[in-house]
Formats: sequence, C-alpha cells, structure tokens
Amino acid sequence: MIGLKVPKKKADTIRRALLKHSLVDLNWKIKRSGDFVFIPLKEKPVDLNGVTDLSDSEVVETDFEAQKRVPKSFKDYLKNRIAPEKMDEIKKSFDIIGDVVILEIPEDLDHEKYLIGDAALKFTGRKAVYRKSSAIKGIIRTRELEHIAGDDVSETVHREFGCRFMLDVRRVYFSPRLATERKRIVDMVKDGETILDMFAGVGPFSVAIARKHDVKIYAVDINPAAYHYTKQNIELNRVQGKIKPLLGDVAQVLDDLNLEVDRIIMNLPGTAWQFLHHAVDSLKPGGILHYYEFASNYEKPIERIIETAYPRKVEILGKRKVKSKSPGVWHVGVDARIY
Ligand SMILES: C[S@@+](CC[C@H](N)C(=O)[O-])C[C@H]1O[C@@H](n2cnc3c(N)ncnc32)[C@H](O)[C@@H]1O
Repeated sequence: MIGLKVPKKKADTIRRALLKHSLVDLNWKIKRSGDFVFIPLKEKPVDLNGVTDLSDSEVVETDFEAQKRVPKSFKDYLKNRIAPEKMDEIKKSFDIIGDVVILEIPEDLDHEKYLIGDAALKFTGRKAVYRKSSAIKGIIRTRELEHIAGDDVSETVHREFGCRFMLDVRRVYFSPRLATERKRIVDMVKDGETILDMFAGVGPFSVAIARKHDVKIYAVDINPAAYHYTKQNIELNRVQGKIKPLLGDVAQVLDDLNLEVDRIIMNLPGTAWQFLHHAVDSLKPGGILHYYEFASNYEKPIERIIETAYPRKVEILGKRKVKSKSPGVWHVGVDARIY
C-alpha cells in the first residue's frame, strides 16, 4: 500500500494537513523508521504541494501494521488522543443538517480539529463537517463556520418529519433541535386558519404546517437568503398557494399589509419581545400566539405578553423549555390565546 515518507520533525504538521483533506487511511498505524515517519494514505495526493509543504516528503510503496481493532464509534476512533469527557462535550454539540455536520471543538483541542472532523465525517456518513467558530449572532441569526472535513459544500437538504428543507448553513439560520417544537405546533393548527410566521427563516414551521393542513400562511423574513430558500422549500414540498413568502422587516411588512390572523409564530427568541405589539395588533380576538424567548423562567415572557396585550385578556395555554441555550437559560416557548 502507499504511504507518505516525511521527515520526523514535520510529521505532525503534515499529518494534520493530510487529515484535513481526508487523505490518511486510519485503518493502519503510522510507523517510524530512523529520521522518517510513514503516514498511511487512502490515495496519492494529486497535488502534494497544494496540501502542505511536502518538498522533502515522498509517496512510497510500503507495508503498515493494521490498527488492532477497526474503531466502531466516534469515541472509539478518538480514543487515546482525546479525553473521554471532552469527547462527550463534542458529541453533545453535534448538529446534523442534511449532509452537513456542525460541531463545537474546545480551543485546547484546536490541534486535533482535522482528526475530530474526519472522525465525525466517517461516523455520520455525511459529506461535510464544519466547526462552530462564533456564536449565533446578528439580525439574520447565523454563525461563522470553519470547514474541517469532507467537501466544503454548505448547501444541503435536511429531512424532518416528511418535509425537506433546502438551506445553506452559512447563510441562514436553521436548527434541527426545533423539530419536536415544530411538530407540536403542526398538531395544534386547524384547517382553515390564517397564520403569520413572523421570523420564518427558510420556512420550516410554515412548510410543516402547510403540508398537513389547509391553511393560508404569511412567512416573513428579513434575510434575502432565507426568503430565497423559503421559495425553494414551498416548491420542494409542493405547498404552493398555501404560503406567501415575504421579504423584509416584519414591522414594516405588517404596517403595509394590515393582517388579521388566527395564529402567529414568533421564533426569534432573543428579540421577539420588541415585536409583540405588532403581533397583538395582527391577531384576531381569540387568536393564538406562539411566543419564544431566551429566559431562565416563564414569568418574564408571560408578563411581557400580558402587558402588551392589555386591555385584551390573555389565557396561557402552554409553556415549555424548547431547548437549552446556556447554563440556566432556556429557549422558552409560551402559547397564549388573546381575546
Ligand atoms: C431564530 S431564526 C428562526 C427561523 C425559523 N423560524 C426557524 O425555526 O428555523 C429568526 C429569523 O428571523 C429573521 N429576522 C430577524 N429580524 C427580523 C425582522 N425584523 N423581520 C423579519 N425577520 C427577521 C432572521 O433573519 C432569522 O431567519
């Protein structure tokens, strides 16, 4: 089989560069001989110097000793390199969106990021792995991503409860962790409703509802890329005519449209409270609001709804922790009927 013969001093840098390009055959052990290290390769790099500085390395035919046991899991694969508690942390951070894996790697494991990326690629069977390199931020709620394994292709199609969502993980917000919440809302909707999805993203709430119900939905988003994918997802899921995608600031859109709807979804947990009065003004008497906020309890979000709706009466229909945001802080959901 083939391996790369590299000077001992450069071995670690070259190994990481090769891992980045998924070129190392991890079923075989790296071997050492004199001043050289031999790295088992899956294939000959097409352009060696494009990978890293390989001027004093060469591809050779040689034998390698098999890894004692072919690793069976992500953790198994990284054993002996990464502490088990760190592996648990990385695994918990995994988000799989279509063919893309997004994960968190602690700073002190920076030097092993390509190995971790390769392990994630192998054990998820997906096509691309990205490392989170910032928090979710800004108006359009996206984060910076560093490509660490597989193809650098960030557009993908994600499947969820029979729906297909096309999106680009670099350009739009999407969280597979909201799948259960979406299902919960879908199950509450009744045929014949008019619905406003105020912060629609690529349309996962709207599309999931429209696939199951005979409804009219206004899906608003300020991010042109999200609007583009909402249009794509309407086609992909064959719900044309049920969803009207709208591009713009929802405050402005509502000023222009003067809507009166049966149900409103407000999934912008950081700042949705700023738009509560627009929601209340657009909700028919007896209409339902699904309001989300980052909070450590339910009091604040409920208080905001009651204060904004006053003098209309508010009935709280449900409340729950949708997902964890940070220690002690939750993405909280409150369902309220406003009379
Ligand atoms: C947390 S994401 C939720 C997206 C979607 N509901 C989902 O579950 O995937 C919030 C979305 O609100 C959009 N947004 C932020 N401010 C907005 C505004 N003033 N008007 C309309 N959309 C806005 C962002 O672009 C983003 O796509």
